[in-house]
Amino acid sequence: MRIDAVILAAGKGTRMYSLKPKVLHEIGGRAMLSHVIDAAAAIENVRIHCVIGYGADQIRQHLALRAESLDLNWVLQEQQLGTGHAVRQALGAIDASNAENLTLVLYGDVPLIKRETMLALLGQANAGTVSLLTLITPNPTGLGRIIRDQKNQVQAIVEEKDATDAQRAIQEINSGIMAIPSARLAGWLGKLGNNNQQGEYYLTDIIAMARTDGCDIQPLVSSDTMELQGVNDKVQLASLERHYQMNNANELLRAGVTLRDPARIDVRGELHCGNDVVIDANVIFEGKVTLGNGVQIEANCIIRDTGIGDNTRILAGSNIDGATIGRNASVGPYARLRPGTVLQDEVKVGNFVETKNAILGKGSKASHLAYLGDAVIGDGVNIGAGTIICNYDGVNKHKTVIGNNVFVGSNSVLIAPVTLADNAFVAAGSAINTDVPANALAVGRGKQRNIAGWKRPVKPATKTS
Ligand code: UD1
Ligand code: MG
Repeated sequence: MRIDAVILAAGKGTRMYSLKPKVLHEIGGRAMLSHVIDAAAAIENVRIHCVIGYGADQIRQHLALRAESLDLNWVLQEQQLGTGHAVRQALGAIDASNAENLTLVLYGDVPLIKRETMLALLGQANAGTVSLLTLITPNPTGLGRIIRDQKNQVQAIVEEKDATDAQRAIQEINSGIMAIPSARLAGWLGKLGNNNQQGEYYLTDIIAMARTDGCDIQPLVSSDTMELQGVNDKVQLASLERHYQMNNANELLRAGVTLRDPARIDVRGELHCGNDVVIDANVIFEGKVTLGNGVQIEANCIIRDTGIGDNTRILAGSNIDGATIGRNASVGPYARLRPGTVLQDEVKVGNFVETKNAILGKGSKASHLAYLGDAVIGDGVNIGAGTIICNYDGVNKHKTVIGNNVFVGSNSVLIAPVTLADNAFVAAGSAINTDVPANALAVGRGKQRNIAGWKRPVKPATKTS
């Protein structure tokens, strides 16, 4: 049996007031459409078709890599003439050769739909049965209503705009998600008309057709509003984002992570945590982040694409991007680690220190106010407060190499390219532009003069009348 999953994603999303196509707006740092694609991709024997129209190029580009790896079929719907018309565009690629094959219709703007729900829906569809995901809600406004007959069998779906007052009072709505025997689809879609209030070809009209053709309509009634919630505006997007983040926070808590406030953590990507991890309030994780055992993250940090080793502490207000941090290290408060930063075990990077493409060896320290860029720094090095590596001459970037146990006095400028060999000592306030040999003291500053008996300038007396 083959499953063709057709994801509808051609709509513009007028109420998002955005140049970006609706399905590229993000939940948890990932396009809504990606969530749906990933959930569908986990189904066995599935081929995914994605119907796009508004912003098609942007969508294709955004998802190019994933689409290629899944052999995803992009289907262009040039004009958005309705959900039925949208599915019809995919017909050519749907495998109707076997009566058991099923087509699963999904929406690119219903991002939190779970794989298990898709499987349950597919499980109750077959060659003679359409299965329909419905929701009982006290607030059905704007949605298609499920019409049932005296025997409580589903008979049809009526869109809000076409519904009578009595039909509008119905609280069971169509989620839009359904599983249809593929061999029957072409026949029903071919018969769709657009003689309705919106002048659209409604996919929902195939329900009544299927009934007429003697098919069963098997509803799967859900009460999970959030899972089936579609996104039409930023209010709905924000509410799904909070729901997603809360679920994620609960998963972390269940896995043993201590969150000082589960309502104030945002994971926009993947976060993997060891045991005894403690995360304080307002921490944002982006991309792929791994925290080892016993890692502590203080409040207000942003951490992206970074691995942090066991028992390392990230102090408040730090911003870390593309770094690799070893064990028992300490970063911040207010540190900024930029891509290519490698801190080996026991390194300390303190407040207002910025690093970029810099390796700091075991136990090295830059405790305050420094810029370390394009540098390889050995073990046990002490970088004094106010030290700046001048890695850029206005045209090119150059490298600085610092050996083991080097001491760089405060307020020094290391002008790259330059090498300080093992045990070198740089006097505070030096400008170093020549290599320093091992064990040498480098003093690169003007000699101090003291002028005895020097008279301070005096303010002239102001005249009084
Ligand atoms: C649709 C259903 C309605 C259901 C509701 C759930 C129909 C006729 N109505 O209504 O019963 O309660 O969803 O949210 O199916 N799309 C295309 N091409 C088109 C039209 C739509 O790709 O030509 C896509 C949209 O981008 C969207 C999805 O299909 O992702 C649903 O379209 P939308 O216009 O939001 O349908 P509703 O009127 O909400
Ligand atoms: Mg809609």
